[in-house]
Amino acid sequence: MDLKSEINTSKLPKHLAIIMDGNGRWAKQKGMMRAFGHENGTKAVRQVVEGCAELGIENLTLYAFSTENWNRPKLEVQTLMKLLVSSLKKEIKTLQDNNIKLMAIGCLNELPAKAHKELLEVMEKTKNNSRMVLTLALSYGSREEIINTLKKISIKVKNNIISPENIDESVINEHLYTQNLHDVDLLIRTSGEQRISNFLLWQIAYAELYFTNVLWPDFTKQHLYEAIIEYQKRERRFGKTSEQIN
Ligand code: IPE
Ligand code: IPE
Ligand code: MG
Repeated sequence: MDLKSEINTSKLPKHLAIIMDGNGRWAKQKGMMRAFGHENGTKAVRQVVEGCAELGIENLTLYAFSTENWNRPKLEVQTLMKLLVSSLKKEIKTLQDNNIKLMAIGCLNELPAKAHKELLEVMEKTKNNSRMVLTLALSYGSREEIINTLKKISIKVKNNIISPENIDESVINEHLYTQNLHDVDLLIRTSGEQRISNFLLWQIAYAELYFTNVLWPDFTKQHLYEAIIEYQKRERRFGKTSEQIN
């Protein structure tokens, strides 16, 4: 049975974030190189992007490469960067056809020049699309983002543009890479690992966490629906009592 019909479209997460993990183990299980896992991971990306757009989710953020991932073997990093360029070239049409705007968060100028350029081009071409914002976290680390935010705010304080008393949550939100995105409502991590790995620490303050053993290349629309159905069963209390909510 198609799980999609069980989803209540009036109670969707506004912002879904995914830690796409398990490509390496997926390949190893098949006796293949890690690169084979990453290549197949792109199929799951397409499933999830399409699935979210069809449902009407406003923001989808995918953790594609962390600041810590730069410490992987050079060849694996190169493979991932090449895959980024080829995927951007291949998927621009899908983004346009589905009215999806591409954004990116992270230390983008640390990306290889070719990848950076391709990324900026696709972002520019899709900037007026309005159905969904797809954000790629690339060379992203939440602590780096917070440091960067502090620097930007400090400069404004120094130049008397912001006074310290006026620093509140909205000021911080405006200076994070994620600026106009909603707070994360649902965070999915695949592959059985149950950790955050330096992803969106500020933005997941009240997110519902969902962990699945499915390895990323095996993740399909049906798995996405399962996660959303589980999310919709949870009671989000935000510090209140259950009686106050109902
Ligand atoms: C996720 O899969 C992709 C990236 C982190 C780029 P991994 O490459 O981390 O796969 P495992 O965790 O080794 O199985
Ligand atoms: C987190 O996955 C980063 C991405 C999915 C891009 P990792 O596989 O790098 O995470 P750790 O280091 O095992 O926590
Ligand atoms: Mg991993």
